[in-house]
Amino acid sequence: MPRLVRGLTYRGDAPDPSFSLLSSIVVDPSVAGTGVGAALQQRWCAGAAVAGSRRAYLQTDHDDNDAVRAFYRRCGWVESETTTTPEGRRLLRYERDLAALHEPGPTQSPTRPKRRSSR
Ligand SMILES: CC(C)(COP(=O)(O)OP(=O)(O)OC[C@H]1O[C@@H](n2cnc3c(N)ncnc32)[C@H](O)[C@@H]1OP(=O)(O)O)[C@@H](O)C(=O)NCCC(=O)NCCS
Repeated sequence: MPRLVRGLTYRGDAPDPSFSLLSSIVVDPSVAGTGVGAALQQRWCAGAAVAGSRRAYLQTDHDDNDAVRAFYRRCGWVESETTTTPEGRRLLRYERDLAALHEPGPTQSPTRPKRRSSR
C-alpha cells in the first residue's frame, strides 16, 4: 500500500525547474513492439522542450527490467543514479538532454525557386 500511495502521489524530485518528469508511459500490449512507445516518448520530449524544459528525467525499475531499460537507452535516455525505496525496490533514474529539440528546424533553402520571368 505505501508503494501504491507513493506511485500515485509521486511528482518527481527534479534538481531544478528546467527538468521535466516523464512519469510512466504505457502502450497497449496489442501494439507493443511496433514503435508506438518510441514515438510517444519522442512526442512528449518535443512538447516538454517547447514548454521550456532543458532536460527530462524518469525513473524505472533497476532490476528484472532489461527490455524497458533497453527501450529508454535506444530512445536516447542516459542512466544516472540508482536509489532504493523503503521497501528495497531499486529505481534507476534516466535523463535526456532536450537542448537539441530546441534548435530551430532546417533553415529555408538559400536557393529558392526562381520566379518565372513574365517576359
Ligand atoms: C516500454 C513500452 C512503453 C515500450 O513501448 P513499445 O511501443 O513497445 O516500444 P517500441 O516498439 O518503440 O520499442 C520496442 C522496444 O521496447 C522494448 N520493450 C520493452 N517492453 C516491451 C514489451 N512489452 N513489448 C515489446 N517491446 C518492449 C524492447 O527492448 C523493444 O526493443 P526491440 O524492438 O529491439 O525488441 C511498452 O512496452 C510498455 O507499455 N510496457 C509496459 C509498461 C512499462 O513498463 N512502461 C515503462 C514504465 S517506466
